[in-house]
Amino acid sequence: MTKPVNGFSKLSKNEKIKWLAANYLHEDQKAISVLKQYWNDDNELQKLHDEFIENTVSNFYLPLGLAPNFQINGKYHVLPMAIEESSVVAAASKAAKFWNERGGFKARVINNKKIGQVHFLFQGDFSKLDTLVTNIEPKLREAVKPITRNMEKRGGGILDINLIDKTDELENYYQLFVHFDTRDSMGANFINSCLEKFAEVLKDETMKNPDFSDKEKELEVIMSILSNYVPECTVRAEVSCPVEDLSEGSELSGAEFARKFVQAVKIAAVEPYRAVTHNKGVMNGIDAVVLATGNDFRAVEAGVHAYASRNGRYSSLTHAKVENGIFTFWMEIPLALGTVGGLTSLHPLVKLALDILQRPSASELMEITAVAGLAQNFAALRSLITTGIQQGHMKMHLMNILNQNQATEKEKEEMVEFFTHHTITHSSVIEQLEKIRS
Ligand code: MEV
Repeated sequence: MTKPVNGFSKLSKNEKIKWLAANYLHEDQKAISVLKQYWNDDNELQKLHDEFIENTVSNFYLPLGLAPNFQINGKYHVLPMAIEESSVVAAASKAAKFWNERGGFKARVINNKKIGQVHFLFQGDFSKLDTLVTNIEPKLREAVKPITRNMEKRGGGILDINLIDKTDELENYYQLFVHFDTRDSMGANFINSCLEKFAEVLKDETMKNPDFSDKEKELEVIMSILSNYVPECTVRAEVSCPVEDLSEGSELSGAEFARKFVQAVKIAAVEPYRAVTHNKGVMNGIDAVVLATGNDFRAVEAGVHAYASRNGRYSSLTHAKVENGIFTFWMEIPLALGTVGGLTSLHPLVKLALDILQRPSASELMEITAVAGLAQNFAALRSLITTGIQQGHMKMHLMNILNQNQATEKEKEEMVEFFTHHTITHSSVIEQLEKIRS
């Protein structure tokens, strides 16, 4: 049994690794060298990464891939994607190429409001509280001026502040519900700083208010925090083409492809087990771009899945229809992204990813990211309703199996050639590798 450790964060990186090896890795020197192998030779760069989080002992690499030929609103983009899953970048590139030949993707931001809440308890007369909040709004706004000044210069700031009565759902529970415009930043720090100031002013003004009883003066702030549910910060991505243009690259006629495709989307709309996997495919594209551009993929994931359940049942994020011979496939999702602040000017690869995307505004990044999700879902459904998913997936996974089995470059070449004409399964790859080796 290892003992709890005190003051771990104060140890140097080497000391942390030494402690780890002694307590959890049986002094395994190989494990230590694996950790150190991922250190960057450039000390400055390594220090930067060390300081992103606490207790850094190494770096954790993900491949950064490029998916070219994304025509979005008539402009070409190459998408930087950070992801470990073998087939995702290949699928995105394929979908981009397919839709490039059919007019490309259309995308537009629908709205761009972020939300934050001060959650508090209040026992007393609601109308008095309501009057107080109305009266102190100028003071609330004034108090955050040092925080909002720069944001206002950029055209953003606080949009509105509302008192919400939630006592039907939870005894004595109220909120200050605040809308923000954070321009090109994701805005988490900005929003949270404003909210904490609001909470302070609310508490102060309550205490000072001569109309409030002693009980009412006990208003208690529970917490102040932004919401990662952003249903008023949404973006739409869409593709469409005549049904007959869908046949290329598939054995199905255009009409048959469209019929099966629309059916597959309808299944995900009504069946939560399928919807989760369907939407996971969407998130393959979204997360990869979100990660590459230094945004918070957990926030995006949480918000998107909440949105997928907004009507009381978890459902498909994407939609498809055929009308007057035109196939249309689209998605509207909430995406709170930033292209300034956070990691965007700190992480060299994030900076580069944003350069690759030609320094987009937050709205443009929302459009690009939504397109990546739609493309990914299109590619997955296209495979699922035609060849099945495993053909493409295993083709990309072949290299992983070969690497796991320490295949040499020559063996890899032979195996890739062999499996151009044979079905890839884990066991067929192992069997063939053994054959080559014997
Ligand atoms: C795999 O990462 C994603 C898929 O399962 C998505 C889907 O089923 O639509 C292929």
